[in-house]
Amino acid sequence: MTMDFASRVERVEPSATLAISNKAAQLEAEGKDVVDLSVGEPDFDTPENIKDAAKDALDAGHTGYTSSNGIPELKAAIAEKLHDDGLTQYDADNVIVTPGGKQALYEIFQAVIDGDDGSHPSSSGTSSRSGDEVALLDPAWVSYEAMAKLAGGSLTRVDTAPHDFQLAGALDDLADAVSDDTELLVVNSPGNPHGAVYSEDALKGVRDLAVEHDITVISDEIYKEITYDGVEAVSLGTLEGMEDRTVTLNGFSKAYSMTGWRLGYFAGPEELVSQAGKVHSHSVSCAVNFVQHAGVEAITNTDEAVEEMRQAFAERREFLMGLFEDHGVRVPEPKGAFYMMPEIAPDGDSESRSDSDSLPVEPGDDTEWCDKAISEAQVATVPGTAFGTPGYARISYANSKERLREAVDRLAEHDLI
Ligand SMILES: Cc1ncc(COP(=O)(O)O)c(C=O)c1O
Repeated sequence: MTMDFASRVERVEPSATLAISNKAAQLEAEGKDVVDLSVGEPDFDTPENIKDAAKDALDAGHTGYTSSNGIPELKAAIAEKLHDDGLTQYDADNVIVTPGGKQALYEIFQAVIDGDDGSHPSSSGTSSRSGDEVALLDPAWVSYEAMAKLAGGSLTRVDTAPHDFQLAGALDDLADAVSDDTELLVVNSPGNPHGAVYSEDALKGVRDLAVEHDITVISDEIYKEITYDGVEAVSLGTLEGMEDRTVTLNGFSKAYSMTGWRLGYFAGPEELVSQAGKVHSHSVSCAVNFVQHAGVEAITNTDEAVEEMRQAFAERREFLMGLFEDHGVRVPEPKGAFYMMPEIAPDGDSESRSDSDSLPVEPGDDTEWCDKAISEAQVATVPGTAFGTPGYARISYANSKERLREAVDRLAEHDLI
């Protein structure tokens, strides 16, 4: 039988990061020692108090469905955390608890974006034929594009790489890219893959554009708790004018090292929660019951462990920046998350993009560099092309200092830096 697949899945490419992990797994199966710097998860175990809370919840029989949007205790704890972040517009009823931040994003995109078969009138009054427009700031986490495409949306992208991944310098380009036809803009600070934390002034620039063009904005704050050098990530929804057009997303995967537990959430205006709640209840029903109970413990009682992990990331960031510097590799300094993006040149030299009029590499060369890094040096990294920014590689420093040193030594040995 030949199956006929929906255009929505045919529009989407398989994950580029998956290709790297497949290659790493294959090499490991052959007995090779791979330093995996391609992973997007903390290398720490989940703190004990959270695990204990999950065990207690299981023993207490919290094993059935919960109310679709989440258990009241967790929604209340999340609302309190959001209030602490200055997001006083959200109460517990504005929150949907999801199996991971990824599912939260999926539900928001499904609720807001109409596809090319949709009958959303565009600002000119004609029917939108190419799907609602989603604006992304490149380099952008791989799943935003896929989510937009799965919802049938079209994309407009703005490159922040020429500005060392800072938003301020890219605001003029953003102003050119968005219009009254833009339905959704995604802002991710601290950001994956670059680790940049956007300044309040730059976020005000986003606010002005969002208000001018009546754009809904997703503020993906999943790395908010992981910042360095005293920098704090401003929540976009705290800015005047953004209260009722921001959907704030966060989760437990990164700050609490709970990637496999699958727990996240979003908070938004009542209307959005009600519409996205339909996608939520008809797809996942609810997040896992005892995991939600563990989430209450995580959010209310884990500050110390979160701080310890943050400090470990901070040390590794310094360490890896230093190693790259020793080899003359330029890396825009990340102020958050646990990634950095060194520039990659085709001959193995690093060259400042801002020093030249054109890109230092042709698109695709970063893919070749990452292929070589894994095949020759057995160091797994992710090409910038996967995030819309050729010429860079994403390096995760969620790994021990010994392994980070080993990775850089191997890259140098193989003339890759
Ligand atoms: C920027 C960003 N947002 C959201 C997520 C979703 O994480 P999770 O589904 O594990 O909560 C990730 C995971 O890598 C991410 O990097």
